[in-house]
Amino acid sequence: MAKIVVVTSGKGGVGKTTSSAAIGTAIALRGFKTVIIDFDVGLRNLDLVLGCERRVVYDFVNVIHNEATLNQALIKDKRVDSLYILPASQTRDKDALTEAGVKKVLDDLANEHKFDYIICDSPAGIEKGAMLAMYYADEAIVVTNPEVSSVRDSDRILGILSSKAHKVEKGEGKIKEYLLLTRYAPERVAKGEMLSVEDVKDILSIPLLGVIPESKAVLKASNSGVPVSLDKESDAGQAYLDAVARFLGEDVPHRFIEEEKKGFLQRLFGRKA
Ligand SMILES: Nc1ncnc2c1ncn2[C@@H]1O[C@H](COP(=O)(O)OP(=O)(O)O)[C@@H](O)[C@H]1O
Ligand SMILES: [Mg+2]
Repeated sequence: MAKIVVVTSGKGGVGKTTSSAAIGTAIALRGFKTVIIDFDVGLRNLDLVLGCERRVVYDFVNVIHNEATLNQALIKDKRVDSLYILPASQTRDKDALTEAGVKKVLDDLANEHKFDYIICDSPAGIEKGAMLAMYYADEAIVVTNPEVSSVRDSDRILGILSSKAHKVEKGEGKIKEYLLLTRYAPERVAKGEMLSVEDVKDILSIPLLGVIPESKAVLKASNSGVPVSLDKESDAGQAYLDAVARFLGEDVPHRFIEEEKKGFLQRLFGRKA
């Protein structure tokens, strides 16, 4: 049975799309047939991060409105065999997504197309698109930055997930929630400029899936249209691969949480020796 996973946050710009692309790619690398859906109607972004923007002909909204089939709209990744993307529409009509339409697409992806994982990249906020992205989810990855406003928004989203999701409304159980702490900079935590992993865990009290460091590799990856989890040399890429290993049930220790120990020369000269 397909697992529907929403990548959500409440706040914008925290790393949802980056994480959806990196996590979806890493799950597909493990051999699972995976599709990432861009729910951000009007702000299409996921196709850029995955480097397939020139291959978009039809999109999610076209499929919902029967203007295209899923076979026409799904884009197969050229690097990772079992990875697909369903791009967002650039229409400005925010009502283009409907509950029944989203349900039909999710059912078809699961039953006809036999996807193992359906990753829903949520838009920011708690309006229609964000609500629909999480409504049918089995599991939720709550992307949070180590700052008060982001943690507050994530807390709000957790409240919505536990009360407004389809599963909950139908009495079919709860959504499994995970915390993904992104853009983490241990040296800024040490200076008291950012919340620590422990602070955020204490406030949100959901299991920690991973800590993704603030990293130049992320910008480099998105500029070149390569999900950062394919950059296996990079800190952020490794952190996403670790997070997916945990997501799939493996016991992997957390990394990138401590400040990098500076070498003697580095300490002496205050720069990399
Ligand atoms: N770990 C990270 N390190 C550095 N920059 C990051 C990291 N994660 C995300 N970013 C940057 O933050 C910005 C917002 O990321 P994005 O994934 O588009 O967020 P969202 O989808 O939540 O709006 C982008 O410019 C992205 O490159
Ligand atoms: Mg986004």
